[in-house]
Amino acid sequence: MDGPSGTGKSTVSKRLAQHLGAAYLDTGAMYRIATLHALRRGTDLTDPAAIAAVTAGLPWSIGTDPTVEDIRLDGDDVREVIRGAEVTAAVSAVSAVPEVRTLLVEAQQRLGRAERRVVIEGRDIGTVVFPDAHVKIFLTASAEARAHRRNNQNIAEGRGDDYEAVLAAVQRRDHLDSTRAVSPLRAADDAVVVDTSDMNIDEVIAALLAVVAEQTGAK
Ligand code: DC
Repeated sequence: MDGPSGTGKSTVSKRLAQHLGAAYLDTGAMYRIATLHALRRGTDLTDPAAIAAVTAGLPWSIGTDPTVEDIRLDGDDVREVIRGAEVTAAVSAVSAVPEVRTLLVEAQQRLGRAERRVVIEGRDIGTVVFPDAHVKIFLTASAEARAHRRNNQNIAEGRGDDYEAVLAAVQRRDHLDSTRAVSPLRAADDAVVVDTSDMNIDEVIAALLAVVAEQTGAK
């Protein structure tokens, strides 16, 4: 499951995994853990070699149960802090470093292969991590629809209401993610593209279950 942020990808991926009795892996969380680690160690984020060096021995763990989020760094529960503004602002710099991608892609392949069935969400899963995946979905939505959802989420979680700033941040991150040299965000040639701009979560789940059933025969 690939696509930009704000498409409902995480919610949809977890629910799809539950429907399918599958494991779940959030690869964005892995890049966020690496970013938090670099920030905690005071790494210069303009220096790719320094980022590569500090993340080489990343003391992290991530669970694959879609109903229990378990994300740790140095044994600490970092579920909340990896979603915070500081990590979000820095994650594009860290995820653009080739050595970081190599390290995390290998870990994703290892974790994915250990499962009989797994829904993996990210940006490059269908293109790089599992090019032979049985089902590839690329979730997308207009920048405006994604910014509205993110802003509503911020309001609901007491983090303020600033649609214009959220839209600017969405566009900035899209640009960084789709133009970076290593693994830019793009749909795999054989991915099914689903535009969620005008769909609610239940409609997206129904559409995706139909795609999975058609491509794998799974119910
Ligand atoms: O999905 P997310 O917002 O938690 O992802 C955080 C960042 O990590 C995002 O800027 C893109 C990057 N990322 C990536 O480069 N490759 C992935 N497979 C997943 C996320």
